[in-house]
Amino acid sequence: MPQHATAATGLRAPSVAARATGLTKVYGEGETRVIALDTVTVEFGRGRFTAIMGPSGSGKSTLMHCMAGLDAISGGSARIGDTELSGLKDRQLTRLRREKIGFVFQSFNLLPTLDALENITLPLDIAGRKPDQEWLELIVGTVGLAGRLRHRPSQLSGGQQQRVAVARALAGRPEIVFADEPTGNLDSRSGAEVLGFLRDSVRELGQTVVMVTHDPVAASYADRVVFLADGRVTDELSDPTPETVLDRMRLFDAQGRTS
Ligand SMILES: Nc1ncnc2c1ncn2[C@@H]1O[C@H](COP(=O)(O)OP(=O)(O)O)[C@@H](O)[C@H]1O
Ligand SMILES: [Mg+2]
Repeated sequence: MPQHATAATGLRAPSVAARATGLTKVYGEGETRVIALDTVTVEFGRGRFTAIMGPSGSGKSTLMHCMAGLDAISGGSARIGDTELSGLKDRQLTRLRREKIGFVFQSFNLLPTLDALENITLPLDIAGRKPDQEWLELIVGTVGLAGRLRHRPSQLSGGQQQRVAVARALAGRPEIVFADEPTGNLDSRSGAEVLGFLRDSVRELGQTVVMVTHDPVAASYADRVVFLADGRVTDELSDPTPETVLDRMRLFDAQGRTS
């Protein structure tokens, strides 16, 4: 475990990869005004796998987008490491996204004319960065696509394509990876391949992952679950199992009906 390793070597105490403090996001104005995030305060520990759950419209995607610098925040603070996103100019934000953040979408967003390996290294190529060969080999070894790296997306299953997308997000060795319902378009077996890879990227490669999901089984791959409702953090759970996540979801439903 990376946290133990760093503690043992005394190099760096377990720390926070990203943090929202009183984060507020408002869309529209007047009658169309929507408070998508309402003073959200949450930390994402370095070397940890966090799941975000909550009903549709509760602000999960907005939280991912604001933390990843894809969407401007309306109030409060969003930090990646020590960097405050709201203080950055467009060009600085683009650079931060390239260097420190990986993003995985529900739709795989691979380029059809490139093979798997070319897709994985594309963001580095665009940024003019040379891939760290050793790191790349680690990712490719962990992703379990040996023998498929020269295949194009159309020659891969959905689960394989999404694993390529996760490998692409990891290729630049980002500070943090945000994944918004990465298994939403996959059957349960393909989903398990992707979740296993995400978990291994945290446990074996020391990466930090934040993942939105609706699925208690998917959430159980994480170290921790943060629950959102109506743009607010309502609860969290450590070392989740499908059962403990389901129990917690039922509790919210019951509270929702009585309040
Ligand atoms: N670009 C946008 N413009 C206006 N309202 C938006 C926009 N994106 C999200 N919203 C609203 O913000 C709220 C939270 O949305 P979202 O973060 O997508 O929820 P979730 O991902 O949990 O389903 C919803 O009420 C949604 O309609
Ligand atoms: Mg969403």
